[in-house]
Amino acid sequence: MPLPVPCLKCPVCAVSHTPVSGHLKNGVYASTCQNCGFFFKFRAVEDTADTLTFTVNGTQYTVGNDYDPSMTLLEWLRSQNVSMGTKKLCLEGGCGVCLVSVKLYEPVTTTNQVYSVNACMVQLYMCDGWEITTVEGLGNPAAGLHQIQQRLIQYNGSQCGFCSPGQVMNMYGFLQRNPAPTKQQVEDNFDATICRCTGYRSILDAMKSFAVDTTRSKYSGPIDIEDLTPKLCKTSGTPCTGKCGHKEGADNGRGENSTQQGSAPLHIVSTTAQWFKPTTLPALYALLKQYRDANYRLVFGNTGFGVYNELAPNNYDILIDTRGIKALYGIDFDPVIVLGANLSFSNLLELFERMGTDPATKAYFPDFTKHMKQVASNSIRNVACWAGSLMLKHKHLDFTSDIYTMLETVGTKLFIVDGDTTESQVSLEDFLTLDMKGKVIIAAALPTYNTDDVFIKTFRVAPRLQLSHGYVLAGFNFKLDKNDNFRVKVKPTMVFQGISAKNHATNTENYLNGKQLGDPQVLKTALTTLAQEMAPSVDPVLASPLYRKNLACALFYKFVLNACYVKSAPRFHSGSMNLNRPVSSGVQTYDTVKQDWPLDEPMTKLDAAYQACGEAKYLDDLPLVQGELHAAFVISNQGNATITYMDATAALAMAGVQKFITASDIPAGGKNSFTSHSQGMKTEELLCSGQVLYAGQPLGIIVAADPQTALKAASMVKVAYSNVQKPVTDLNEAIQLKSFFPDPPDPSTAGDAAKAIASSARRVTGSIQMGTQAHFHMETQASRCVPNDDGGLDVQCTTQWIDATGEVIAGILNIPQSAVTVEVKRLGGAFGAKITRNFMTSGACALAAHVMQRPVRLVMDLHTNMRAVGKRNPYYAQYEVGFTDEGKLNGINVTVYGDCGSSPNGSGLSSMFICIDNAYNCANWKVTPVLVKTNKASNTACRAPGSLPAQFIMESMMEHVAKSLNKDPSDVRKLNFYTKGQVTPFGMKLDYCNLAPLVTQLETSCNLAARKTEVSVFNQANRWKKRGLSMVPTKFGIGWLGGTYNVFVAIYHADGTIAIEHGGIEMGQGINTKTAQVCAYELGVPMSLIRVKKGSSVCNANSMTTGGSITSELNAMGVIECCKALKARIDPIRQKMPGTPTWQQVVTQCYQKGVDLTSHYYTFPVHKEPFRYNVYAATVTEAEVDVLTGQCQIIRSDMLYDCGESMNPELDIGQMEGGFMMGLGYHLTEKEKFDPTTGEVLTYGTWEYKPPMPKDIPIDFRIALLKNAPNSLGVLRSKTAGEPPLMMSSSALFAIKHAIEAARAEIGQDTFFILNSPALVEDIQMACKVDPAQFTFGQ
Ligand SMILES: Cc1cc2nc3c(=O)[nH]c(=O)nc-3n(C[C@H](O)[C@H](O)[C@H](O)COP(=O)(O)OP(=O)(O)OC[C@H]3O[C@@H](n4cnc5c(N)ncnc54)[C@H](O)[C@@H]3O)c2cc1C
Ligand code: FES
Ligand code: FES
Repeated sequence: MPLPVPCLKCPVCAVSHTPVSGHLKNGVYASTCQNCGFFFKFRAVEDTADTLTFTVNGTQYTVGNDYDPSMTLLEWLRSQNVSMGTKKLCLEGGCGVCLVSVKLYEPVTTTNQVYSVNACMVQLYMCDGWEITTVEGLGNPAAGLHQIQQRLIQYNGSQCGFCSPGQVMNMYGFLQRNPAPTKQQVEDNFDATICRCTGYRSILDAMKSFAVDTTRSKYSGPIDIEDLTPKLCKTSGTPCTGKCGHKEGADNGRGENSTQQGSAPLHIVSTTAQWFKPTTLPALYALLKQYRDANYRLVFGNTGFGVYNELAPNNYDILIDTRGIKALYGIDFDPVIVLGANLSFSNLLELFERMGTDPATKAYFPDFTKHMKQVASNSIRNVACWAGSLMLKHKHLDFTSDIYTMLETVGTKLFIVDGDTTESQVSLEDFLTLDMKGKVIIAAALPTYNTDDVFIKTFRVAPRLQLSHGYVLAGFNFKLDKNDNFRVKVKPTMVFQGISAKNHATNTENYLNGKQLGDPQVLKTALTTLAQEMAPSVDPVLASPLYRKNLACALFYKFVLNACYVKSAPRFHSGSMNLNRPVSSGVQTYDTVKQDWPLDEPMTKLDAAYQACGEAKYLDDLPLVQGELHAAFVISNQGNATITYMDATAALAMAGVQKFITASDIPAGGKNSFTSHSQGMKTEELLCSGQVLYAGQPLGIIVAADPQTALKAASMVKVAYSNVQKPVTDLNEAIQLKSFFPDPPDPSTAGDAAKAIASSARRVTGSIQMGTQAHFHMETQASRCVPNDDGGLDVQCTTQWIDATGEVIAGILNIPQSAVTVEVKRLGGAFGAKITRNFMTSGACALAAHVMQRPVRLVMDLHTNMRAVGKRNPYYAQYEVGFTDEGKLNGINVTVYGDCGSSPNGSGLSSMFICIDNAYNCANWKVTPVLVKTNKASNTACRAPGSLPAQFIMESMMEHVAKSLNKDPSDVRKLNFYTKGQVTPFGMKLDYCNLAPLVTQLETSCNLAARKTEVSVFNQANRWKKRGLSMVPTKFGIGWLGGTYNVFVAIYHADGTIAIEHGGIEMGQGINTKTAQVCAYELGVPMSLIRVKKGSSVCNANSMTTGGSITSELNAMGVIECCKALKARIDPIRQKMPGTPTWQQVVTQCYQKGVDLTSHYYTFPVHKEPFRYNVYAATVTEAEVDVLTGQCQIIRSDMLYDCGESMNPELDIGQMEGGFMMGLGYHLTEKEKFDPTTGEVLTYGTWEYKPPMPKDIPIDFRIALLKNAPNSLGVLRSKTAGEPPLMMSSSALFAIKHAIEAARAEIGQDTFFILNSPALVEDIQMACKVDPAQFTFGQ
């Protein structure tokens, strides 16, 4: 067999060549070298194809080396405009917006199987023979929606819509495999796609409506198998409408019977790399022998590069796809279990489940089933193979591989073949030190156990329950003699990952051999030995060494309690179990004023159908315009230094790179600042002019022909630094160094706090800290700027503030603001990050377009976005509180240090004083804000900025007061509730205050008194599981001041339809739907007549940002005023018309009479107090903590919310759920970490940064809107819902705190302690003061 060519280089001058079509025939490449003129020929592997064929939504595509081997399926789908509904964010498998479903021939079952996969992890060349379905292949509003899309809409599961195609495709792939699932199975399957908006309840409800065990209703019931796979039009590849006349469109267009496609060997040669797909082991061995010294890598699921970027295919010259080798898919059971290397995690899971009761495997398959369900996500499990996971461990000994843990626990042996066909059998430990060059893992042999004396258990504790690598993994395999006090019959196996590079607790294993595990003294000595030999590595990104060491002991103890169950006291049994999470559920209760519909009507978003089918366009979905270029930021990797020089030579040498732009390219008279000076913001440099303030700061811009090249080139710009100083990224360190900005806001006072505290019967002092929070909007910061023929720029971008974006761009380019036209259709989430931070992106994009005089698009990749853009401000507060013996507040003195990052813009401190009182009356206050400067990106507004930390500080003080009095915190809270007529510290009289009755109602409806008793009984009965309850109220002031918005309503005379353009931005909150509802109500027309247009800078000159929860209601107010003006003109005409004219007739008549059918209104609300009105609400949350590990779950949350007369209960409840969940992320899972030397953000991707996922939501989540509570000060009697729900998420943290208190009571330490936010798993466990000395049998 002729050997494959090493690479297509001219043998004379070594210049690389691309084998273009026509030059490569039957595997022979012949061409004349364009560099030296030499005529050369190469023969590729015989009988191999050099193209591959696959289908997308039934349309067949054949591709070859016209695309690079490193191109992903996602990149191809989007760059070829085949599927823009398949979204792009993390490009590392961790967000799930890119899910598609694929049907492929699977040798394990010898059938075609459908799987959901992450298109960003799949290389294009892997798709040989695949039938791919994208969201466009399911349905659309024109052809009819697929039932999955319909349900998502019906259950209001789409807010900004960016994740919706991913959610739909996850379910589609799942139902294809399991058309009649249970609710539990559905919920288990939802572990792949993050949603930052909805809080998941609505998505889960939509998907669980297909379950066989769901309660049947109008919108629920299993899907008919006929409806599952829609018929596709053969012409368009979209669902068949039956209109194009293509008769063959009647079949499903998906090539149902095309099994075993793609089974031919493949060899594709490009200028950068070669792709091989051998189909036999000998062919694979030949390649390994040939390329053992080359820069090669094997490819199976290709997910490894989601963890380690060095595995990205573009780093290799030779890529060998093993998917076609059927011999690697085997499963054999006699006498040991032999598993082929190509088995995916899903294949293994299916096997573990199926064989869980078999006598030979029941010792560990059931446990492995549970474990495997928590590894990665279903879409990763569908493609990742176990051999790949072991190779990640092989390359990175510190990788916490679940597969390694499981396989090593049972003593697996690997079969490894060298390219010269020598086969060896090695243990996993030996494998880790084996040189794998030129070798391949072909199979693993796992033992079977036919005795019942084997106890095997594996554990994983992760920062988040789903889609998260483990902090610590552990596996135990013991042969025990139950009749001899659990004597360990042979040397046991104790595997640990996440501690250090050492995988076994060898000393403990040796010690335990022959010992009686049921002997308390043996347990004690084993734990001491274990603690001694666990030497955790130190790494700023990992959990603390102390926790990891402690956890290793705790997991072993858990195992012992399990294995020796009968030895432990019943109270201690709780330590043997993991938290049990049943299927979640939610209840939403509200009233609606039916006679006002469509106002107040619970309805889903107008755009929901387009979002669910992938047709809704976000910025990066816009088609390219002619000549469009792509830009990427070059960012600093030093946090406090001076730039000596920047060298872009290597970057500029890359094909396709056009320009490197620096601050010096800003045109004469332009400002090197991306902030709005008219709004009083301080300068922040667009591109660093010399002094680097933080790692991640933009230094320059690369402009290139495509986004990938721009990004790669940006990373190749060399930057030299001098005067490198240690960056300060820690708030406490900055406070100690007195690193403060000058001119902080003055202390705010009411009464005399010092005097009141001094004269109080009781006092507490303390401090509390709150972390940051990444906005994690699913659509990143983006902009597209096109120079126009008017000397200006047309800008489409992801800003929350059209007007100021225009101002900033004009300032940078030194052009009139009127020359900048900014447009925004919708945002894929924003949460405050796009109020002022999009100015950076749009400013840079505008500069690039100006310099190039060509259209430029700048879509930040997630990693750059997380590094360059600031987040929620962290705070640290020191407080002193004076109060009575009963707990009534007398005086409060707080100093709040706000970590502003590198600029004081957006510190959130100015609003502290007006929010910090929350629900409590206290006559004497002093609040001193301090603006702390750190070497971080300037922190910025994040949903409920200022107010969320302010209220958390207040609630922490209330907890402290209560604890010092040994009182129930709820009682102390209620004692201090504001009542009607009282005055807040900033002088607002509460003419309306329903806090106390609202809380009474909530406590009754959630049965609080009885549940308190139940919790106490539970805590008495369980040593290692503890529960806690907490009630947190909120009074959230809604201030309209500064809320200037333009609203424009136009009625078209020809058909009577109506267009609205308003001053807000639709970013998932439903502003378009609410304004349309209001318009329909005011004009008395059906909703179907109304369209809401995208926002533009012409109509929205001088409009304020969308934020502060006020935009929907103020724009609704603008619509009302426009409609009033229109009615004032229309009604006199209508009244003169005979009979009851139709709307159309009235409009026609008006038009003919010359009536202006357009109307404009500019809102400029004025009120004396900072707030127009207050939102009142309260939430009771119950949580459970696994004391040994620190894992926790929210058992139940009940929120009662005064929303006035909600304009749209469905949307408002969506906001409440989403807001509450964002708050849970803030308090429980999201944490930013920095490199202490460079100041770089270490948590810049989905691997390390963990927003909540579906199994983080309350298991039972009930939201009720307060009935009969019209808001006389609101727009149409409503109240807002965007931010206040976050305030009550601290109820979860405090419920956990109370559970921790119960754990500390066990060791006599139930005294006051601080529980800072966020309280991650490790913080919770450490707060419980878990110590291996406590690990006994309890009797
Ligand atoms: C979002 C995400 C979440 C994840 N979560 C977890 C988690 O919770 N727990 C966990 O343990 N892991 C996790 N992983 C890692 C995942 O398990 C691995 O990426 C995966 O197992 C690699 O398998 P693959 O088939 O994709 O290998 P590939 O990416 O195709 O290859 C990876 C490496 O394995 C080599 N290789 C592949 N097959 C063979 C073979 N037969 N013989 C020799 N070498 C071979 C390749 O040369 C390459 O070096 C996660 C990954 C992602 C992207
Ligand atoms: S873009 Fe593919 S998982 Fe995030
Ligand atoms: S709707 Fe899910 S991310 Fe916005």
